[in-house]
Order: sequence, then structure tokens, then C-alpha cells
Amino acid sequence: MVKICCIGAGYVGGPTMAVIALKCPEIPVSVVDISQSRIAAWNSDHLPIYEPGLEEVVKKCRGKNLFFSTDVEKHVAEADIVFVSVNTPTKTQGLGAGKAADLTYWESAARMIADVSKSDKIVVEKSTVPVKTAEAIERILTHNRKGINFQILSNPEFLAEGTAIQDLYKPDRVLIGGRETPEGAKAIKALKDVYAHWIPVDRILCTNLWSAELSKLAANAFLAQRISSVNAMSAICEATGADVSQVSHSVGYDSRIGPKFLNASVGFGGSCFQKDILNLVYICECNGLPEVANYWKQVIKVNDYQKSRFVNRIVSSMFNTVSGKKIAILGFAFKKDTGDTRETPAIDVCKGLLGDRAKLSIYDPQVTEDQIQRDLSMKKFDWDHPVHLQPLSPSSIKQVSVVWDAYEATKDSHGICVLTEWDEFRNLDFQKIYNSMQKPAFIFDGRNIVDVEKCRKIGFIVYSIGKPL
Ligand code: NAD
Ligand code: UGA
Repeated sequence: MVKICCIGAGYVGGPTMAVIALKCPEIPVSVVDISQSRIAAWNSDHLPIYEPGLEEVVKKCRGKNLFFSTDVEKHVAEADIVFVSVNTPTKTQGLGAGKAADLTYWESAARMIADVSKSDKIVVEKSTVPVKTAEAIERILTHNRKGINFQILSNPEFLAEGTAIQDLYKPDRVLIGGRETPEGAKAIKALKDVYAHWIPVDRILCTNLWSAELSKLAANAFLAQRISSVNAMSAICEATGADVSQVSHSVGYDSRIGPKFLNASVGFGGSCFQKDILNLVYICECNGLPEVANYWKQVIKVNDYQKSRFVNRIVSSMFNTVSGKKIAILGFAFKKDTGDTRETPAIDVCKGLLGDRAKLSIYDPQVTEDQIQRDLSMKKFDWDHPVHLQPLSPSSIKQVSVVWDAYEATKDSHGICVLTEWDEFRNLDFQKIYNSMQKPAFIFDGRNIVDVEKCRKIGFIVYSIGKPL
């Protein structure tokens, strides 16, 4: 029987281990973290992350074969398979700042594994890391602990937030990379046996270590590139009178292209797309491939362009000034069905509007006021590092209010920005909202979820992404 331990009880470590525990009832699984508050939340009725279906899984397994603990060293020492799912943010200082992955958390986890291990272990890279990280980790482990055999595997995670549980139940594929040696093959088999409890073996792909590490960065780069491609098209649509939904539909009908992930938006967000592309760009630059680096950089440039284009459209439509005007922000999370705000486009849009001295009234069903205020006062890339908070200037605090209802947010406002595609925003009583707003009343729909015709009939001036005015 194997014992599993996962270092890092975050968006990946928590749900992934909960599903492993559910599907492998005979395997004891512990999830450990240095954050006391996170572990306390995992052991409480209020889990630290909002993810549909997660609570049921945790409730079924917690205390049976799923344990959350801050006793990192004890659980690591006892485990046969150690997953490392710590954060790997973008470096903010020093060599490669603004691009390279910061592996401080990974390295300290690896050193701790070396320190406490008394038996052979399989160490699994679950975090997204630069290509060749496994080699560095191998060196740290073997140089610090003679006589113990460590096998490093790369097993990147492809779940998306908001659908994490379904993605884990039925992944398109599980990827395992390992050394091409007899010991490497044995380690790959041990991990494959865990996943084979519920995943058909033809969906478990095995590669060498470097292909697995690079495949994760490549998958995120391809996905983000699709969004930047459709967002670039949305700008052409607005200039020409084409409708981006019709263009996406027609293009996606080609079976070589496919219909998924072609929704034009205010821009992609989330903790990984930008970070992983920057990481890829840095790898290209370090390997003397500036043309390839520039190619991927464009994906981020178009994303930034899309966000600033949206802000400019709001300001220019509202007679070139939003100073002192109340603007309702509906949705702050980076996508629906999550409370996660990391790299959410809402931060850039709100900061852009605050820069033009708008007054913001923000509502999101899953994001707390505390989190929103923190996000709006933080510097780029600081969100995933020990917090260096910039105190909000007194004038910014006055400019932002966070409310718990879409009707409260929109009351007396001059304009509404829809920044997250929460289902509840589709069913709002827009007539009631219109009656309570200043006129002319504007809607800027950054997610194309509003019924444009209906709202225009009510009297709104509606701006959607990539659609005729
Ligand atoms: P997260 O910030 O939610 O969780 C990481 C956790 O690791 C934190 O709770 C932190 O306290 C803990 N930690 C850091 N150093 C530690 C140490 N030395 N010992 C013990 N605990 C430590 O991050 P996340 O979103 O779960 O992402 C983790 C990794 O997975 C990243 O590399 C990310 O790129 C990748 N990933 C994320 C997603 C996603 O949807 N969030 C999906 C696929 C891959
Ligand atoms: C993404 C990938 O989808 C996962 O496979 C990957 O594991 C994960 O990153 C990661 O490595 O962290 P996630 O960021 O959770 O997952 O969510 P997505 O559904 O990919 O959405 C990312 C952003 O793109 C969101 O802001 C979303 O609103 C936006 N998006 C998505 C669009 O603007 N248009 C689309 O068509 C799809």
C-alpha cells in the first residue's frame, strides 16, 4: 500500500488530493501547507476555495483517508509519493524579474523533503515549472541525502477553476513524465496505478520528463493564444460591423479548429496563463530564441490591449470623462464559479477607471470586500508573494465601494460594466435597473452575456465586445 502526501493545499493541491482520496479509498492522502489559516479552513465547514462539487468530496473523505495538516515534515517523512503543488509565481526581483518563474517555494519544499526523508520516495512535480526543473530538484535531493533513492516525475495539472472537480473526474488526459531508466519506469508505473483507479489507461500519457514539463506550458500558451486570437478579431469586428460571435461560430465549425475556447472577452485572467507564457518567453530568451519569444509575447500584448481598449471605450462613450460618475462593476472574479481574483481583468479595468477618477460600486457573488480592496492596492505580480501591500490612498478608498447585490451596485450609476460571466447576471431585471440609473444609461458588457436587443429596447446604450454598436 502506498501513502501519499501533497505539499501545498491550494487550488490544485486541495481538489486534486480530495479526488485521489475519493477514488482510491485504500490510499491515505495527507495535504500539508505552511499556511495555518489555509489548513484550518480545509478542516472547517468553510473551505478556503469556492469550487462547485468540492465540499461534497471533502466531506466524504476528510478524517477517513484524507487529512489536512500543518505538520509538513511528519507527513512527508511517512509518504511514498510526495506531490509538490506549491505556487510558482513570476519573479518580481533580480535576474529574469517580470518573466522567469520564482522557484523559491519549490526549492524550499525540495530541501525539506531531503532533510526529513528516511525512505525512498517518488517526488511528483504537480506545480507548473520551467523545463528542466526536475534536473535541479534531483540535484537538490540527491546532494543533500545520500543513500536514499528519489525518483522525480512530472505530472502537470490541467484542471480549470470552476470546473475542477469534473475535470479531475474525467480529464482529457493525465500526463506523467519520468526518467527513461528502469527506476524511472517503475516510478511512472506506481503513479499510473494511482490514476488507473478511475482513469482509462489510454488517457494516461507517459513521456520523458522534459516533454511533460514543456507540454504544460505549451497547453496553456495554446489556450491563451486562442483567446487573444478571437479578441484581436473582436477589434476588427468593431471596426467593420462584423459580429464576433458569428465569426467564432463559423470559424469553430471547422473540425480542425473546433468550437471551444473562442469566446471574445475583456481579456483572459487567472493565475496561470500570463505567468506560464512569461515563463515560456524567458526559456526562449535563455535558449537564444528571440523570434519564438516575441511570437508568444504577442499573446500577452493583445490581452493587455483588449483590457485597455475596453477602458478607453467606456471613457470615450461617456463623453470622454468618468470623473465623479458612479460606475457599477458586476463581477470581479477572473471567471464564473470561482472566488479567485488572481490576475483578473477586473483589476486592470477598475484601476483604469479609477485613474480617470470614476466612483466604483463593485459586486461579485464570491469575492469579499477585503480581497477586492487588497487587489486594487497591489502592484502587478505581487499577489503571489509575501504581501508587500501599498496602502490605498484615502482618495482611492472613497472611490471604491463593495456591495452585496447587483441592484445596489447599479442604483444611481451612470454605467454598468459586466466583467465576470456569472449566470445570475443573465437573469437580472434590467428594466428595474434602468429605472434606478442616471440617464443616458450605459452597459459595457465585457463577457457578451447581456441580451443586447432587449436592453436597447429598454433604453440602454449597450456596448458589447466585437459587436456592432
Ligand atoms: P496556491 O497559491 O493556491 O497554493 C499553493 C500553496 O502552497 C499555498 O497554500 C502555500 O502556502 C503553499 N506553500 C508554498 N510553499 C510551501 C512550502 N514550502 N511548504 C508547504 N506549503 C507551501 O497555488 P495553486 O493555484 O494551487 O497553484 C499551484 C501550482 O499549480 C502552480 O505552479 C500553478 O501554476 C499550478 N496550476 C494551477 C492551476 C489552477 O487552476 N490554479 C491549474 C493547473 C496548474
Ligand atoms: C486554465 C486552463 O484552462 C487549465 O487547463 C490549466 O490547468 C489552468 O489554466 C492552469 O494552468 O492554471 P483557468 O485559468 O482556471 O484554467 O480557467 P480558463 O477556463 O482557462 O479561463 C482562463 C481565462 O480565460 C478566464 O479569464 C476566462 O474568462 C478567459 N476565457 C476563457 C475567455 O476569455 N474566453 C474563452 O473562450 C475562454
